[in-house]
Parts: sequence; C-alpha cells; structure tokens
Amino acid sequence: MLPNFVLIGFMGCGKSSVGKRLAGLTGHRFLDSDELIVNANERSIPEIFADIGEEGFRELEESTLAGLVGVAGVVLSTGGGAVLRPSNRENLRRIGIVVWIDSAEDILFERAMRSARRPLLQTENPRETFARLHAARQEIYAQTADVRFDSSHVDQDEVARRVLEEAMRFRASGTSR
Ligand code: S3P
Repeated sequence: MLPNFVLIGFMGCGKSSVGKRLAGLTGHRFLDSDELIVNANERSIPEIFADIGEEGFRELEESTLAGLVGVAGVVLSTGGGAVLRPSNRENLRRIGIVVWIDSAEDILFERAMRSARRPLLQTENPRETFARLHAARQEIYAQTADVRFDSSHVDQDEVARRVLEEAMRFRASGTSR
C-alpha cells in the first residue's frame, strides 16, 4: 500500500494542481485542507478571514488537520500557512510523507497573484508582504518536509511524476520515520 502524501509550500507553488495529478498517478483520494474548511463552514476563505480573522482561520485549519490523522490512501494539499503551528507540523508528519513544493519567489508571486482569493495578499504592497511571509516561512517548510522539489521550470504533470519518484526513494532509503 502506498503511503499518504502531504504537500506543503508557499502560495502559488501549485500544491493543489500537483496534488490532483499525484492522486491520479497513485489512485489515492485527493484532499485539500482549504477546501475541507470551506465546505465544513460553508464560507469562502476570504469570508472566513473577514468574519473571524487569521487566528480564527488558523483554529479551523488546526482542527481540520488534526481530524485527518489516521486517514489512509490520500494526497493532502495544505494551505501555505498550515506549517505555522507546531501541532500542525507534527500532524502533517503523522499523516504522510511531507513534500515541499518550492519555486523561485518571483514565479510564486506571479502565480499567487492570478487569484484574487488570497486574503493575506490584500495589502497596499502585496509584493512586499509576499516577500516578508516567504522569507519567514522558508525555514519552517525546510524543517517540516521529508522531500523538497523545485517546480520552477517543470510542468505540473512532470512535477507530480517526479514528486512520486522522490517520495518513494525517500521511503526506500529507510530515512522514513
Ligand atoms: C494561506 C494560504 C492559502 C490559504 C489562506 C492562508 C497562507 O492557501 O490557506 O489564504 O497563510 O499562506 P494557498 O497556499 O493554497 O494559497
């Protein structure tokens, strides 16, 4: 039985698109923690931020991730800030092999700005906000991930194939926890 795969990474890295493809390759079910939160609360992410603020959203995110510990046969894509709470980091690592999808910062920014749905970037200077959050999180992604993959110049089908290869290599290497 293949392990679960957990995708982490900054806004715009392509976690959801890669996750869906990875689910297709493995036969796993695709889950997206943001989507689970939206469905359970019947509100969009911007609405949740507007109603209960970032901390309120983080509470929902924490309980959603905690509720996934013990699931099998899934590819889980997470929100970019899911790694911020230590309890989440622990839970993500319990859920499966943690893969950090990374990209060059400018590429991430360009992709992230294609969608107007990201409340954290609704600031006067989104590029600066983006750079600040990005810098603050790199080390956390690095510490949480079992495998890092740079998707800067790779198309998403190829990212999914290579992520699967690298995750399986990680597992076979015995470094597995
Ligand atoms: C966030 C990223 C978003 C979403 C929320 C907060 C973050 O998900 O969870 O807006 O803190 O980076 P994506 O990474 O899918 O954009």
